[in-house]
Amino acid sequence: MTDLADAHVLVLGATGGLGAPISRRLVEAGARVSVSGRSADRLKALAADLGDAVAGVMPADLRLPGAAEHVVRAAVEAGGPLTGVVYAAGVVAFGDTVDLDDDTLDDLLLLNLIAPIRTIRAAVPHLDAGGFIVQLSAIVAERPMAGMAAYSASKAGLTAFGVAAGSELRRRKIRLIDARPPHTETGLADRPIAGSAPKLGEGLAPDAVAERVVRAIIDDERQLDSVAFTDS
Ligand SMILES: NC(=O)c1ccc[n+]([C@@H]2O[C@H](COP(=O)([O-])OP(=O)(O)OC[C@H]3O[C@@H](n4cnc5c(N)ncnc54)[C@H](OP(=O)(O)O)[C@@H]3O)[C@@H](O)[C@H]2O)c1
Repeated sequence: MTDLADAHVLVLGATGGLGAPISRRLVEAGARVSVSGRSADRLKALAADLGDAVAGVMPADLRLPGAAEHVVRAAVEAGGPLTGVVYAAGVVAFGDTVDLDDDTLDDLLLLNLIAPIRTIRAAVPHLDAGGFIVQLSAIVAERPMAGMAAYSASKAGLTAFGVAAGSELRRRKIRLIDARPPHTETGLADRPIAGSAPKLGEGLAPDAVAERVVRAIIDDERQLDSVAFTDS
């Protein structure tokens, strides 16, 4: 069991439909959180909601070089060494690959693949044995979807990174959980950076996904594939 009482957890994408309920559940389990998101206003509102449990508030555009490293450094300065990191930032784009423009492709890969790698690289030296990292990949890493080829590739790349880096981190006794939730009703699909969503069917409830992620942290789980979100 991982005891989150007095843990210090950095959550990136903390203002999101998944990041916010994950942050809330971490706090309910006794953790202090440092929170990061792109919108300073949304971060301020989240921090007010979470109250005294907030150790640090770091707005950042994680697409920019140096931003992930800056967020990690600022979190450690604000709240001390890290017990865990949750990377819950991300964007989605829809449409055929032939219609994909360079800026969209850059943003997908920068935020969904490169920034989490930079974040984890920066955070590991600040995590003690017993620490954890959660990265939010997606079901499309297991089952890539037409009309979401680049998004699927960004998530499959992240999952591959998680498997390999997770093996490296076992030597340091740090757990890396690659979480691959199915479609969830956070509104992400309604604010794509390009294209428009196909009919996706009813998604999971964000709070249920958040609960499952935090349960995996507490129960020392290492795997959180797509089935884990519907099986329990
Ligand atoms: N929802 C789903 O169906 C689903 C399913 C599987 C996996 N996922 C993955 O789960 C993660 C969270 O998704 P979500 O549904 O919670 O999405 P969301 O509600 O749109 O939240 C996205 C988060 O990413 C942040 N963000 C966006 N652009 C950023 C940038 N340039 N720099 C820094 N932060 C940025 C947002 O910050 P602001 O609020 O400040 O904009 C927000 O905190 C994503 O990686 C997504 O791919 C989602």
